[in-house]
Amino acid sequence: MILRGLRAGLLSARLTRGHGAAMHHQVAAPAGLLSLRGGGSPSTSKFGAPARASPEISLRATTGMSAAEVKPGNEVEVTEVQQEETKLPVHDPATKFRKDYKPTPFSVENVNLNFILNEDVTHVHSILSLKPNYQGSTPPPLKLDGRKDVKLLSLKVNGSDVNPSEYNVTEKDLTLAKLPPGPVTLNIVTEIKPQENSSLEGLYKSSGNFCTQCEAEGFRGITYFLDRPDVMATYQVRVEADKANYPVLLSNGNLKSQGDLEGGRHFALWEDPFPKPCYLFALVAGKLSMKERTFRTMSGKDVALRIFVQENNLGKVDHALESLVKAMKWDEETFGLEYDLNLFNIVAVDDFNMGAMENKSLNIFNSRLVLASPETATDLDYSRIEGVVGHEYFHNYTGNRVTCRDWFQLTLKEGLTVFRDQEFTSDLNSRPVKRIEDVMGLRVAQFPEDAGPMAHPIRPDSYIKMDNFYTMTVYEKGAEVVRLYNTLLGKEGFRKGMDLYFKRHDGHAVTCDDFLAAMADANNVDLSQLGKWYGQAGTPRLNVSTQYDAASQRYTLRMKQHTPPTPGQPNKEPLLIPVAVGLVGPDGKDIPLHLRAAPEANGTANGNTAQPTTVVLRLTEAEQEFVFEHVPAEPVPSILRGFSAPVRMTVEGQTDEHLQFLLANDSDEFNRWEAGQRLSRKLLLQLYDAASAAKVSSADKKALQSTLAGAGGVPDSLVKAFRAVLMEKGLDGSFKAMATTLPSGTELVDEIPEADPTLIYEVRNYVLRELAARLRPDLETILKETDSAPGDAYVFNAKECARRTLKQKAINMLSTLEEPSIVDMILQRFREATNMTDQVGALGALVEVPGEARSTALSEFFEKWKSEPLVILKWLGLQAMSNAPGNLALVRSLVDHPAFNINNPNNCYSLFLAFARSPVNFHAADGSGYAFMGDSVLRVDKINHQVAARMVSAFTQFRQYDKQRQGLMRAQLERIVATNGLSENVFEICTKSLAA
Ligand code: BES
Ligand code: ZN
Repeated sequence: MILRGLRAGLLSARLTRGHGAAMHHQVAAPAGLLSLRGGGSPSTSKFGAPARASPEISLRATTGMSAAEVKPGNEVEVTEVQQEETKLPVHDPATKFRKDYKPTPFSVENVNLNFILNEDVTHVHSILSLKPNYQGSTPPPLKLDGRKDVKLLSLKVNGSDVNPSEYNVTEKDLTLAKLPPGPVTLNIVTEIKPQENSSLEGLYKSSGNFCTQCEAEGFRGITYFLDRPDVMATYQVRVEADKANYPVLLSNGNLKSQGDLEGGRHFALWEDPFPKPCYLFALVAGKLSMKERTFRTMSGKDVALRIFVQENNLGKVDHALESLVKAMKWDEETFGLEYDLNLFNIVAVDDFNMGAMENKSLNIFNSRLVLASPETATDLDYSRIEGVVGHEYFHNYTGNRVTCRDWFQLTLKEGLTVFRDQEFTSDLNSRPVKRIEDVMGLRVAQFPEDAGPMAHPIRPDSYIKMDNFYTMTVYEKGAEVVRLYNTLLGKEGFRKGMDLYFKRHDGHAVTCDDFLAAMADANNVDLSQLGKWYGQAGTPRLNVSTQYDAASQRYTLRMKQHTPPTPGQPNKEPLLIPVAVGLVGPDGKDIPLHLRAAPEANGTANGNTAQPTTVVLRLTEAEQEFVFEHVPAEPVPSILRGFSAPVRMTVEGQTDEHLQFLLANDSDEFNRWEAGQRLSRKLLLQLYDAASAAKVSSADKKALQSTLAGAGGVPDSLVKAFRAVLMEKGLDGSFKAMATTLPSGTELVDEIPEADPTLIYEVRNYVLRELAARLRPDLETILKETDSAPGDAYVFNAKECARRTLKQKAINMLSTLEEPSIVDMILQRFREATNMTDQVGALGALVEVPGEARSTALSEFFEKWKSEPLVILKWLGLQAMSNAPGNLALVRSLVDHPAFNINNPNNCYSLFLAFARSPVNFHAADGSGYAFMGDSVLRVDKINHQVAARMVSAFTQFRQYDKQRQGLMRAQLERIVATNGLSENVFEICTKSLAA
């Protein structure tokens, strides 16, 4: 599965998104690991009981413990519980199924928590007010979730100790066999050790501060609870800690009181009036500085916005704060959604598995998604921060106020919120540029996932580890599915659906079906066929053939759809696919469209104009025909405008001339870009086939070059087409850069059976070099035109980003020529750069050119930035990703470098995940790259299961590669899965990938 992380930019350098879309010419990423979000996948039935070594582990049996005394004032006197060492075999991890959903026997009305934070242990006092939710008068047993590092100190029911025979504690849960009828109050005291918690789930310490991460199932690492999203309660939280070390004490909701205590300690009392699931609980305690701003909402309420960071970073929070204000305003204007408390906090922490977390009124962010200054952050960092701040803020309604009934519904909140953050970014910056970036991300990471062993529907049917299930599919394909409603219903119809969704479900935990019903009912339409997108995995294939009849002036589109089988789903049904179509006339202008048959039957006008030039056709059958009338001359069809559905499309009879025509003329910018991609993809695949057939070694560059030249090389028509785009006046620079970027290596791997990733990389480089050589004068002109004047300050906006992106594009292309004068020019730019975008752009180009400039620049960069951990991540990532021959030795040395910290997820992502993106070094034919990665997975798994699971995803797409590499990758998976003490996270990914 493809664990996400791409969006949030957990991978340090990346190829596909942001204003820097065209940043790294060298990128030709392999394996599905581009996208970590936590992959998840279905088809567990296939390996319900996977063969696994049955090592013996020691379990702490805590049954029969005596209760600890809880004194008033919440000081705990612990009577040490009897602990036995019991040997039990490891059980095969349990698979959870969506069909097994049952409400809990009790609901939790209120949660009262008291945290006594200390350096050695932390005590958590929890008072739960339960109400019966069962049928009949006999209370069923109540099972509360726990974790093996949570120690139960005390348990009371309605104020009285519980007889040991009436409860049972295991590594995973606490079961109360007999509860009295009626409402029940539970008092639970647990002991945890946040300072030893390297998993970064539950309560842990980062840079000396206490913080929490509870999604998906981290709350059970704090106290025993019904740790599932449909259990919604109000919370009061008291936090107590040493005042000197932890001056700031935060939790969700409103601050009710605070004060000093004896012994240099203090406390704060927080209350959250909105019922919420426990995954949205948060606590922070530490030494933090704060910057504040006020936002006045649409109804005139003042909200305090606060960002907490370590003091030395206070100068880097303005952009995040500004982004938050923009997000709040946008949600009011676009969806009428107003913030619902008087306080909104964001805390930045260095050690964080994901990008950021939407805890109610206390968002916690990976510091790399908060901190930015022109000197230390790139355009891409700035745009990610804007997007992620928006995303987490938007969750306040889509996720928090209306949450998920169970984790199978994750796309309900994530797909929808990604869609919302995409729209936010589109409205603030360039819509076509954002759309192209998102589709690039989808193709590079989600399509392969959907075609591989981990393919799963956006609403999966089963999982072992929920963390493994924050995938590109759930997020990005999920957002595409939300976009389908928007495309079919139009902006206003979509808004009506959203309004009804909140009206019906505010304060509740609901399902994807509820969302669909709200959209359908609000618009009085039947959307049931859209529902199939939730349950069916795999990327649909759309085939279009066309026919023009000059005599009748009719133009016919014949469409066929077919979804290939995926693990566990051999047969697929036709989906409802909205296909946005335009017809471009010989003059390059759109032809007004007259669709035969009533629009409501199979087509809707886009907008209300009488004569639309784009219509959205509704493909509902396996095969269907659409006829346009009054078409005066044979047009070139522009199909799937704006990428109106996440499908793979082939257009029969589409020639290079058609594509060149669309690249030059299409009024739909997405399809202009798409035409360029199709042109260059065709060429790359053709050249790869030639090289592959000639059996030239990818190491023999001369032979490869002559083979490729002999196969036709790069045609003039492509050079001309690219030149025309690059030089077109008034065209967005980011668009120019993207339109002249070749499809990534990963995308090509996805199109080639048993691909040789290194050969793909070399072929792609050949084309890049040819283009650079023949476009050189144009690139040099661009460089002159896009340079800033000396002394110009860095500004982050779409226009300036476009300028820098195009400049970087020119630098990257020129650098492929590997000429000393060009290298000198880039080194000089590297040294003189006044912002991180330009500096790291130059460094990225230099790193791919072997020679002295490479090492000089790397060491100068390190010396300059060694005290800035976020910049050091870039330094690690660029080196790890490099395709310089034999770079593994350098990567190995970086693991031992004093600047590298294996306990920090960002460090692991920047080093290991970036390494796995090198088609040359990760995919080295001798298997050395794979072995290094396998070793690293096992090492990291002992520290942090989620991070290790993302790393092991580098191997899951092994079937895409040639036989030799397949064998080597599979061998690593088999070695890993046979290792004793492996985490469930890594286990699930390995077994599913091997079993498919
Ligand atoms: N709710 C998630 C964060 C999360 C997911 C935390 C799983 C723990 C486990 C959050 O809203 C999210 O989706 N964050 C993304 C970034 C976002 C811009 C898509 C992330 O962290 O990658
Ligand atoms: Zn989210």
